[in-house]
Amino acid sequence: MKPMHSGNYDAGKIMGPIWDQFSPVKVRKDHHEFLFKILKTFPPNIKIFDSCLGSGLDAIPLAKRGYTIIGNEFDENYRKTAKNKINEEKVKIELINYNWLNLNQYHTKTLFDVVLCVGNSICYIFGKEAQQKVIRNFHRLLKKDGILIIDERNFQFMLDRQKEILGDKEKFVSTHSGLNKHFLYGGEKYYPYPVKIEENLVIMGLWETGKTKPLSHFYFYAFKRNELRKLLDEVFGSENVKQYSDYQEKFNQEAGFYQYVCKKS
Ligand SMILES: C[S@@+](CC[C@H](N)C(=O)[O-])C[C@H]1O[C@@H](n2cnc3c(N)ncnc32)[C@H](O)[C@@H]1O
Repeated sequence: MKPMHSGNYDAGKIMGPIWDQFSPVKVRKDHHEFLFKILKTFPPNIKIFDSCLGSGLDAIPLAKRGYTIIGNEFDENYRKTAKNKINEEKVKIELINYNWLNLNQYHTKTLFDVVLCVGNSICYIFGKEAQQKVIRNFHRLLKKDGILIIDERNFQFMLDRQKEILGDKEKFVSTHSGLNKHFLYGGEKYYPYPVKIEENLVIMGLWETGKTKPLSHFYFYAFKRNELRKLLDEVFGSENVKQYSDYQEKFNQEAGFYQYVCKKS
């Protein structure tokens, strides 16, 4: 099983250093409020496993709030950016470096209260078997009553409007909620817009404002409606999975992103 689509291997070299500008803190405001609200339902001294640290955009604010964080980052480029920021901000985050497919080899002394897999990251994993394995590996790291917080872009929205979206970049970059309501990604300088939308594959361009070609690409497994939900239900039990649409606890088929909070019973 491959850890990610080969198209993503070199992307980190470009993305790692500019990640904070592609996902600026102000664009993450709702995302952070959502995380903080959910974490408030736990005692203050909980242990969190951030499965994909990126540049530390979530882990650093959480460490500042006093949570104990283990930060996993598989890509050396993101890891380098995260390390520098962790040092600059003088927070304590233990760093590890696992491919999610091998997380069953990670032995922790105590299990986690929370596992995070956010920022549209599970979509890096292609194929049902590999996706099931990764979700099981996250589940294994949790204590009883611990939660996995995981999200995905609303790819079904893109699959349903493939021609419209690919045919009118300006309209969709500036206006459409399902594609770009500026949750999570899209800063002043860099923004996402797809160059290919097809069955199970969306190639998202990372664009720089004013440039005619994308700087780099992300290759995403485009989950269909309910596809990820079903995988989560299989591992956690459907009664233990709550779905949110752009951080609201309801289903909205035009949402930009879906979030899931999955409790280990
Ligand atoms: C879109 S970035 C998101 C990073 C961060 N969570 C955020 O929200 O900014 C995707 C992340 O998924 C991680 N990733 C993708 N495939 C992985 C795998 N097989 N094992 C471990 N990490 C993986 C990458 O290393 C990267 O950190």
